[in-house]
Amino acid sequence: MTDLSLPNLSGGLPDKRQVAASFSRAAGTYDSVAELQRDVGSELLRRLPEDFSAGRWLDLGCGTGYFSRALGERFTGAQGVALDIAEGMLAHARPLGGATHFIAGDAECLPLQDASCDLIFSSLAVQWCADFASVLSEARRVLKPGGVFAFASLCVGTLFELRDSWRRVDGMVHVNRFRELGIYQHLCADSGLRVASLQTRAHVLHYPDVRSLTHELKALGAHNINPGRPGGLTGRARILGLIEAYEQFRQAEGLPATYQVVYAVLEKPL
Ligand SMILES: C[S@@+](CC[C@H](N)C(=O)[O-])C[C@H]1O[C@@H](n2cnc3c(N)ncnc32)[C@H](O)[C@@H]1O
Repeated sequence: MTDLSLPNLSGGLPDKRQVAASFSRAAGTYDSVAELQRDVGSELLRRLPEDFSAGRWLDLGCGTGYFSRALGERFTGAQGVALDIAEGMLAHARPLGGATHFIAGDAECLPLQDASCDLIFSSLAVQWCADFASVLSEARRVLKPGGVFAFASLCVGTLFELRDSWRRVDGMVHVNRFRELGIYQHLCADSGLRVASLQTRAHVLHYPDVRSLTHELKALGAHNINPGRPGGLTGRARILGLIEAYEQFRQAEGLPATYQVVYAVLEKPL
């Protein structure tokens, strides 16, 4: 089983090829269901230092490029790099513009020169990176002195309703694992970057039924791809068990799905 509460999972999963393939498959459906992703990225944009100007920015894990286009509008005249591990996402993003370059790459090993960016913006991507210490060290290497690494990610508590409901049914891993907030705090504090802010905020979405939630996760490419996930078909009896277990969480607005979002703004010292 993958345990993202550990700081480094080198050799562990989620397997990068599976992550890339899953998001590539989801490129065509992602935008239609990415309401939370747009809210989170917009909040991250608002958290950038007010008077900040970037001559060269990187959108790390750009996905369909929604925030590459937003960064292009905010920093007019700047050079923008949109980077993602999923070729399918880049193929979707490229014709829509926003960035100067669209490149395939891995946040844990960036194909960029030292001290080449003023801003690294990354919304809801680094929770997919098993080795977050490497992401931070790459950010530090690629940033210019005075540059900013702003990221939003997910921590423990995300989709706890779905996890707990499945646990009642069969005790198996059906939900991607997330790092503890304390691990984010510890790794950021040790990164050599100055932590200007690091906060969490819970975003709660509501669904009429369990099927709407699981379909949405699949359309986002964010369904469970952990190694401990159960193989084969999900039997009717287990699905009925899941539906029954999830009902305990029902609220007036519907079935809740909680996302615990970590928002961080880090600065490379001058
Ligand atoms: C949930 S999407 C977010 C996309 C976009 N930032 C947004 O807010 O709409 C996560 C993206 O991170 C990318 N990703 C996952 N692991 C990555 C890695 N190691 N390096 C670069 N991108 C990665 C995925 O391919 C996917 O496009």
